[in-house]
Amino acid sequence: MNRPLKIKGLTIRNRIAVPPMVCFYWTDDNGYVTERNIEHYRAMAEGGAGLIIVEATAVTKRSRLADTELGIWEDGQIEGLKKIADAIHAGGAAAFIQLLHAGGNGIDHEADAPSDMVYRKVNNGHEMSKERIKETTADFVAAALRAEKAGFDGVELHGCHGYLFSQFCNSRNNFRTDEYGENKALFARETLQAVKAACSDDFIVGIRLGAFEPTLEDGIRNARALADVTDFIDASYGGDCDAFAPEGFPCSPAVYGASKIKEALPDMPVFGVHNINGREDIEAALATGIDMADMGKAHLVDPAIAGHILRGEPYGQCLHCKDYCRWNPWEMADPNKKCPGAIKFARSVK
Ligand SMILES: Cc1cc2nc3c(=O)[nH]c(=O)nc-3n(C[C@H](O)[C@H](O)[C@H](O)COP(=O)(O)O)c2cc1C
Repeated sequence: MNRPLKIKGLTIRNRIAVPPMVCFYWTDDNGYVTERNIEHYRAMAEGGAGLIIVEATAVTKRSRLADTELGIWEDGQIEGLKKIADAIHAGGAAAFIQLLHAGGNGIDHEADAPSDMVYRKVNNGHEMSKERIKETTADFVAAALRAEKAGFDGVELHGCHGYLFSQFCNSRNNFRTDEYGENKALFARETLQAVKAACSDDFIVGIRLGAFEPTLEDGIRNARALADVTDFIDASYGGDCDAFAPEGFPCSPAVYGASKIKEALPDMPVFGVHNINGREDIEAALATGIDMADMGKAHLVDPAIAGHILRGEPYGQCLHCKDYCRWNPWEMADPNKKCPGAIKFARSVK
């Protein structure tokens, strides 16, 4: 886990990454970076993570997941994002940022989607015209150029968890009969290609992809369809999906899916995620052949967990008490509530 990972010209110091994790309520409706965002990322970089993928950041105001979420839809947002990238680099970590379009699963009640359908019982998803698809690709290109200007080493498209690219990739959401229905990964593919063409050669462009979309076979097929236009695959769950791992598999279904993508694409840097919560979990995940272990909630508990593990020191762990997690904007609106895992860790090292 202490070995560097090379992706194109970038050397990442170890195999522990922070996956994107939104911090709702830290910004406002304008989506500008706040001091709190900068210090959050600084702590995890100084804490030893090799790679930090900054949280889902909306490419347009309409495409947000919540109305207090970071944005990258206008040039004025670059200055704050640069402070995040600089803080991450100063801590010795590599800095990527996740670019989000939530599609039918966001705040837009009349949302762009692959096909007409109702999402979460509240949003009318409308089938995007081919023109609208091209405009959306252009939004991602503009956002990626802002990310590069802000000093990030790379971007990942949010292509899992049921948001726009994930909806296109999944036959339970994509009922199109045109080429975007025939090749479910085509929209993501064209967007990756356009972003790569617009950004510098050494800028890293990848995707967080559903390994199950809805099945593992579909996830692997989508990964293969993107292999020549993505620099890495950060594998996670799909949207409406049938995730599984065989009995006895030592890690999460998401890591199992990642390991199968790695098996199919041995030269591709592949990341895996979910419940990697300590040293043994990282070892087990990396032993499946994947290249990078994403530790999400564990980093919210202990921002220095990577360094603590690498130096053999005590570290904090997620206690799986979802109610206290900052993720859920509807249940966890009170920023003063404290994470029980963090409290337990602080007591244990006193
Ligand atoms: C607070 C929070 C925010 C999240 N935000 C995002 C996000 O912005 N983009 C994303 O792809 N996944 C997001 N996720 C999912 C995580 O990246 C990760 O896949 C998930 O937490 C499982 O990993 P873990 O068990 O290590 O926490 C979020 C999860 C949490 C807990």
